[in-house]
Parts: sequence; C-alpha cells; structure tokens
Amino acid sequence: MTASAIPPHGGQLINRLVEGDAREQLRSDLAGAPVIKINRWTLSDLDLIGVGAFSPLTGFMNEEDYHRVVSEMRLADGTVWSIPITLAVAPATVKELEVGKLTALVGEEDHILYGSLLVESIYEVDPFHEAIHVFKTSDVAHPGVQKLLDRPTTYVGGSIQLLERPKPERFQDYYFDPSETRRLFAEKGWRTVVGFQTRNPVHRAHEYIQKSAMEIVDALFLNPLVGETKSDDVPADVRMRSYLALIDGYYPADRVFLGVFPAAMRYAGPREAIFHAIVRKNYGCTHFIVGRDHAGVGDYYGTYEAQEIFRRFEAEELGITPLFFEHSFFCKACGNMASSKTCPHPKEEHLTLSGTKVRAMLRDGVCPPPEFSRPEVARILIEGMTEPIVRV
Ligand code: ADX
Repeated sequence: MTASAIPPHGGQLINRLVEGDAREQLRSDLAGAPVIKINRWTLSDLDLIGVGAFSPLTGFMNEEDYHRVVSEMRLADGTVWSIPITLAVAPATVKELEVGKLTALVGEEDHILYGSLLVESIYEVDPFHEAIHVFKTSDVAHPGVQKLLDRPTTYVGGSIQLLERPKPERFQDYYFDPSETRRLFAEKGWRTVVGFQTRNPVHRAHEYIQKSAMEIVDALFLNPLVGETKSDDVPADVRMRSYLALIDGYYPADRVFLGVFPAAMRYAGPREAIFHAIVRKNYGCTHFIVGRDHAGVGDYYGTYEAQEIFRRFEAEELGITPLFFEHSFFCKACGNMASSKTCPHPKEEHLTLSGTKVRAMLRDGVCPPPEFSRPEVARILIEGMTEPIVRV
C-alpha cells in the first residue's frame, strides 16, 4: 500500500475547483446574483472544501448535517465528522437569498469573487447549544466560543464551487493541496506517513514525540496550522522560519515533509483532534499524532481528553491511526526526553516551562535551556518577538 492509497474520508477526494470554460460560465452565471461577503476564516474553509482537504464535504453544511455533527459528531449519512463547517450570514444578506439559487462568495476585504454557493438550506441556530457541544463550554472567554458568538445566527448551507484561491503572501512553496501531498508521498515511496498538527514553535517535547513516531513510520508530515489563531499565539511566519531551521539542523531531509495547513484554529480540543486527524488522512497521512491537550486552550479540556475521544469511533470509521503520546519533558536524572511512561524520577527532575514563562523569557531576549528548545529555534523566536507581525 502506498500513502496515496489511503482512501480519503468518505472514499473520494473532493475537487470543487472550476477551471477552463466552466470558470467563465460560472462567472457569467454569477453576474447579478446575491453576494455573500466572506471573511478570512470562511475563505480558508471555502478553499479547503474546494481542494478536498475537508472531503467528503462539498460545501458549507446543510441543516441536517449541521445538527447531527453538533449532537453526534456524524454527518447526516453517518460519516464521522466532529466540527461544524458553516457559513453564517448577516440578516440583511439572508433576505436576498433563495433556496435553489446561486450566490457569489466575495472576499470581505479584497472584493475578489472567490466562488459560488448553491443555496440548499437557510436555518437558524442556537450558538450556545453549538458551543456547549463543540467546545464543551459556553464561556465567552474561550476563543472559539467568542468567535462563534460573534457570528450571525443564520447559517446558509449548500455546495460550493471555487473560482479563485486565496494567495499566500509568504512561504508559497509550502502550500500543497491534498492531491499534491498524496502524489508526492507516493513518489517518495512512503507507505506510512505520520501527520503532525501544530500551532506552536516545535520545542523539544514536540520533536521527541515526532521522532518517536518516525521510528515506526516512513516519514513525518510536519503540517503547521497557519490560518487564523488567537493573538497571543506565535505568528505563522516566525514559526515557519523556526520549523525550517529545526529541520535543517535536526531532521533527516529525506524523511520529513513540511507543508502548511491553511485552516483556522478552533481551540475545540477533543473534537478538533478528530477533525485534525480526518483532514490529515485527506492529505495522505496514515497516522496522526495526538499528544497532551491537543488543540486545547486554558483549562477547558482534560490533558488526555483529545485521545480518549478516539475510542468513541471504530478504527475503520476514522481510517487513520492515531498515535497517542503522554506529556513529554526533559528529565535531568534520565539525561533525556521522557514521559511518565518511560521515566521513574520525581517531578523535581523534570524540566517543564509554562507557555507564559517561555514567552516572557523570549521577550526579554533570553533563550530557554537547550533541553527545552533548540537554540536555533529560540533565536528565531526572540527575533520574531521584536518584529512587526506579518501574515503568511
Ligand atoms: S495544538 O493546539 O496544535 O495541538 P501544539 O502545537 O502545542 O498545540 O501541539 C501540537 C501537538 O503536540 C499536539 O498533538 C499536542 O498534543 C502535542 N504536544 C504539545 N506539547 C506536548 C508535550 N509536552 N508532551 C506531549 N505532547 C505534546
């Protein structure tokens, strides 16, 4: 079996990109059609649906899919899906829409016509109900809940077509569609590929779990999320520089593949772990790393809840093998990276630094110890702290 032989979720890689004559036809069909303005987050969803990263979704969720995803983590046909992918539309725009009609999806900031939506359902939602199910809280301090509650409460569902792709300003060479990663993994002869999601710089604990996984699979797909994140996360362009320096110094070039995941971060913990795994399957991964508090924020989720949730599904329903890792750290007594599964020493021997502490050190121009972060990575992060933020 080659990596590209891993079936996409739902069995078929979706492609909603319109090309050639059909593109001009669609553009003319959309002349005079109602317009829905979409923000960067929705644009990233549209693009990821269009290129099949969210297979089997062919559009923004219709009412039936939405309700079943929220309550049971399944699409209406029973396929596992844990995060609602929805289009929230302001009341003034909703008035212009009609079921069965085409609508233009236009960038809110750049006014570019990115695609179309064939309206199939228009429905009211209770965002608190969604928040409680998806985020396990309706606390507005939760960044995902906050985003959700800021949106209009009418959703519009229907299949999409993609006319234009959002253009990355930087690191264009690291954008790959699922069809490309599948082809490239196969060309490299990789039969097993482990996907790694991150929204952070890769510190030693991340490196340890990645390399532990690399011992049992053919290759690592380092797939940092570079879509919208909360403001105190390290900006994606700084992270990208740090990943490149790390790979250059510490990873075998022929067994690692760096490509970005241009999605928004939901901070939905366990549910997002399932979503992250399924999407990486679409990119051609056979395995997916889930460590401690995956996609978590604050204290909303238990340390291993994002691992436990996988037990609720049959292996064949997910189709990608999760690799679970305990909280990892450097142990001074062991003299290496470890976890409670491999280290017998007390906490005092473990080097653990909170995110807040690390950020404060970097802001002060202080490199965290090399047992916590590679110096090459720390130096890039220090530089990044004093630079203006640039979006990737
Ligand atoms: S996430 O929001 O993208 O999950 P992060 O980039 O910190 O956050 O984590 C990436 C992956 O590494 C996740 O699977 C997470 O569970 C795992 N991870 C992060 N830190 C550790 C650690 N110290 N020990 C074990 N796993 C970790």
